[in-house]
Amino acid sequence: RRGFLVGAAGLAGVAVGGAVGGVVGGTVGGAQGAPEDAGGRAVVPFHGERQAGVATPPPAFLTLVALDLAGGVDRDALVRLLRIWTDDAARLTRGEPGLADSEPELAAVPASLTVTVGFGPEVFRVARRADRVPRWLGPLPPFGVDALRPEWSDGDLVLQLCADDQVTLAHAARVLVRQASTFAQVRWVQQGFRHAPGAVPSGTTMRNLFGQVDGTRNLVPGRDDDLIWVGDGPLAGGTGMVVRRIAMNLDTWEALDRPAREQTVGRRLADGAPLTGNAEHDEPDLAATGPDGLTVIPGFAHIRRARTDDPRQRFLRRGYNYDDGAGRDAGLVFVTFQADVAEQFVPVQRRLDELDLLNTWTTPIGSAVFAVPGGVAPGEYLGQRLLV
Ligand code: HEM
Repeated sequence: RRGFLVGAAGLAGVAVGGAVGGVVGGTVGGAQGAPEDAGGRAVVPFHGERQAGVATPPPAFLTLVALDLAGGVDRDALVRLLRIWTDDAARLTRGEPGLADSEPELAAVPASLTVTVGFGPEVFRVARRADRVPRWLGPLPPFGVDALRPEWSDGDLVLQLCADDQVTLAHAARVLVRQASTFAQVRWVQQGFRHAPGAVPSGTTMRNLFGQVDGTRNLVPGRDDDLIWVGDGPLAGGTGMVVRRIAMNLDTWEALDRPAREQTVGRRLADGAPLTGNAEHDEPDLAATGPDGLTVIPGFAHIRRARTDDPRQRFLRRGYNYDDGAGRDAGLVFVTFQADVAEQFVPVQRRLDELDLLNTWTTPIGSAVFAVPGGVAPGEYLGQRLLV
């Protein structure tokens, strides 16, 4: 990405952008540069074997909307809703207005928008496909660390919207939620953010609001596909989605000294390197001991407790920060994707529940699990192969 252009070249860029882009005009980049410099025109394809928004790189902003189906919605109505959403999601992600879009100008900046749809068990029941509910779909088992609130938990349907622009995101959420209004009510909305586009070099691991480099050791789409995507059966090409809203107590965390904060995770704050290494992606040496004879990465450290020798117990973490109160109401919208929630996610969460010093400063306050159906070919609707 180039930086903002200034002066004559920048103005020329705007003029070209305006002429080519029509509705975008010169208003997106203003006098500072062409809109494409800021990634506003970037499009992530909606159609494909798999839904976008899982393996595609996480854009800067997240809006997650969970909805409950209205009483009386039957299979036909459900399919109508899914058709409308499919159509509008295809349009909006291309930078085109939704079908009944009252603010079409707001649709002109796709900004890498993705729309990902997931189902709770009720969708299968309404579709008369209860036999296809994945065995892991439903509330997670209770954990000792949980302080779950119903207003952040569960839901019949989820819309995961991600984009590099907040205006785009607000508009897409508005269009899709309004289109659903006769079929479903909003249950909860969670918004999140990572670094803004262009703020850090691409490929930089994000930081969470504890200041930690978060996301270093993760599944890699393309390499770990069998762990991310369901291979066969009705959900083939789909995945399981876990959403945990985890509050982070910044006040008590900040009271810790830096070595204590680093030992809690097992990595350095400055660069995310393991306490036994020099660079972020160095392999941690869990056996290494210090002069005191104790392991350098303590027994209670988050990364020691979160990893396992069982290669199946891994998942794709694709979370976002939230902050609804200048640090007083902050945390992670912790989102993971895995082929099998029971086999991959639950054992890790159970181990962290038993011991993880990080639990002292973090509290899960919301929890939801969804089945994300496979992708959509042109002419199909979201979830069609799963529900017919
Ligand atoms: C690693 C933070 C919750 C699973 C990490 C790392 C940080 C971190 C800083 C090290 C960098 C990295 O490899 O990404 C947090 C915070 C949490 C949280 C602040 C809560 C607010 C969770 C939960 C789970 C989890 C709930 C799973 C149920 C993992 C895993 C790793 C990891 C699997 C990689 C471990 C490895 O293989 O080295 N987390 N985490 N984390 N976390 Fe968390």
